[in-house]
Parts: sequence; C-alpha cells; structure tokens
Amino acid sequence: MKSIQITTYNKNIIRALLGLKLQEKETGIPGNNEVLVKMHAAPCNPSDIAFIQGTYNIVKKLPAVPGFEGSGMVVETGKNTGHLLGKKISAFVQSDTDGTWAEYFVVNADDLIALQDEMDLDQAACFTVNPFTAYGLMDIAGQRESKAIVQNAAGSQVAAFVRMMARENGVKVIDIVRKKEHVGLLESQGAQHVLCENERDFEEQLNKLSKTLQATTAFDAVGGRLAGTIFNALVPDAELVVYGGLSGKPIENIHLMGPIFQNKIISGFNLIDWKADLGGGEFEKISEKLQNKFISGAYKTQIQGSTTLDKIVNGLRNYIAGMSAGKVLIRP
Ligand SMILES: NC(=O)c1ccc[n+]([C@@H]2O[C@H](COP(=O)([O-])OP(=O)(O)OC[C@H]3O[C@@H](n4cnc5c(N)ncnc54)[C@H](OP(=O)(O)O)[C@@H]3O)[C@@H](O)[C@H]2O)c1
Repeated sequence: MKSIQITTYNKNIIRALLGLKLQEKETGIPGNNEVLVKMHAAPCNPSDIAFIQGTYNIVKKLPAVPGFEGSGMVVETGKNTGHLLGKKISAFVQSDTDGTWAEYFVVNADDLIALQDEMDLDQAACFTVNPFTAYGLMDIAGQRESKAIVQNAAGSQVAAFVRMMARENGVKVIDIVRKKEHVGLLESQGAQHVLCENERDFEEQLNKLSKTLQATTAFDAVGGRLAGTIFNALVPDAELVVYGGLSGKPIENIHLMGPIFQNKIISGFNLIDWKADLGGGEFEKISEKLQNKFISGAYKTQIQGSTTLDKIVNGLRNYIAGMSAGKVLIRP
C-alpha cells in the first residue's frame, strides 16, 4: 500500500514537510482487538504539524506514518472485532503505531467510532477530535454556569464548534483572531463580538467586553502573552482553560492579583483524558448526539480542499498558509 513516511523530526515546518516521503509498505494485519481500515480521508490538524516538527506530546519511534485522525471503511477484522466489518468509521489514534496518512491503517476498536450510515465520510474524517473537544470545553463552561466565554484562535474549527454550541445554549462568545480580515469573516458567519489581537486598543476592548458580558471561562489555544492578557481580562471566579499551544510560547504577563484575590484559575484540557474520565456509555451518547447534528447539517467542519498522498507537501503548505479557511483532507 501507499503511505507517507516521516524519517526525522524537524522544527522548521518547511523542512519538516519536505521530509515527508511517499513509500510502498506492507498493509498491516489486524490483531485480536483491531481492524484494518481502507482510508477515505485524513485531515492535517495542528497536532500533526507539531508532531512532524517533533514538538508535540507524542514522539514516535521513526520511521513512522503520521496522521492521528481519519475516516474509512473496515475491510478486515481481528478475532474480537468481526461485528465491525463493513462499518464506516472515524478514528483518533495517538499510540506508537502507524497513522492515518496511508491507503490503509490498523486501529484498535477502542480508538474508533463506528458511525451511523448517514454520516458523510469527508465530515467523518474530522469528526473524532474537534467536535468532541468543543463539547468538552463547553462542558467546563457549563459547569461554571458561564454566561459568556472568551476564545482565541477563533478562526479554527474547534472555535467554530464552540460558537455553534454556545449559540444553542445562549452563551455569549468573545472571539479573538490574529488577522484583521478574519474579523469581518467571522461576523459574516454570525459571530457577535470579534476582536483582533493585533489592534492597538485590543486589550482595552477585551477588558471592557469581558466585564460587560461577565466572561467567566476562556479557552486558550495560543499561549504566550495573549493567554495572560485574556486571563487578566476575565472577571473574578473565572477559569482559563488551556487546550493548545499554537504560539509555542509559555503563558506570560499574568497579574498576580487574579489567582490570589479574585479566585481565578488556569487549567488544562486534553481530549484523551477527558474521554477517559467519562462514565460508562457517556462517550457513546455524546457521539450519537454529535453525529445527529452532522447528519442534520446543523454542524459541519469547514473543508477548504483536498490533496493526495503524492502531492501532500503542496497540499499541507496550502493549509498552513491559511488555516482558518478550513481543513485540507488527505485522500489516498
Ligand atoms: N487539547 C486537545 O485535546 C485538543 C484537541 C483538538 C484541538 N486542539 C487544539 O485546538 C487548536 C485548534 O485546532 P483546530 O484543528 O481547530 O485548528 P484549525 O482549524 O486547523 O485552525 C488553526 C487556527 O489557529 C490559528 N493560529 C495558528 N497559529 C496561531 C498563532 N500563533 N496565534 C493565533 N492563532 C493562530 C489559525 O489562524 P490563521 O488562519 O491566522 O493561521 C487558525 O485559525 C489547536 O491548538 C489544536 O492543537 C486541542
């Protein structure tokens, strides 16, 4: 089968992309609790970019096939997975095995979602990570009974799902983008309070809005100075939930009075731990609920285009040049 191979990590993103090679490889054989999936498509997420740069939490033994997420059909099963044969699936895998940027991949049954027949396989390629992440983040805001939240990297797909879920729950959102042109774009999609982090009066506007709307939860995917500025803008008894590190920089600039006298806290979120903490059957219920939203058309991942395994470098360059335009799907 054809697959993409990474042989060395490289912090320089262009060199990291150029290091991705198309290779022929033996198709894997599923073990007892595994299945063989014929891939339909896989996205490139920021975690995949960080992975090939060697800056992500997951470091695999190389050479390896990258790709943590994707969709496809089960074409072969193991001893305990016969019931999955012929099923449409969406998977998210971070174990030390080959990933989804290939014609086929082997996955443990615990790491996949057997989908309803009506799920679109392009949408399914991006189903297992971002919608669940937004759901988990909104659950934190829900527990805090937040009437308003703040989020940065607001042009991202996670942020878009947060907006969809917030709207359903009557929660106001203060969206922060880094490019001026994305302010109008988000507003045209119905976002009500969009700020650009690079405007001169950004901090002032954020402080004012946060106070007016009483923002008590913030979702940070960026880190650096921006995360500190957001933390400082939150009202007392608020929580900044860190779930991404797009700037690659540590959080700076936190006013000490917030944690000491205003009961403000910083926490972290990651999908795998969130999923592991759910009670029996809860993940399946959430999955069903989210799938129904996709099937009805209420939820959708923005997809800007696609590429093939042999053109992956160009395809991913397009994604990196304009991430807010949507995902680029890798089709084998
Ligand atoms: N913790 C978890 O379990 C978990 C799960 C899923 C996702 N995540 C994180 O969630 C974030 C969004 O993921 P996604 O798949 O939704 O992203 P995405 O749709 O691919 O979009 C990435 C967004 O990040 C923006 N961005 C990139 N670098 C930035 C920077 N240095 N400062 C500010 N904005 C920046 C991009 O804006 P431009 O268009 O301006 O480039 C774009 O809007 C990522 O950090 C990802 O790692 C975390």
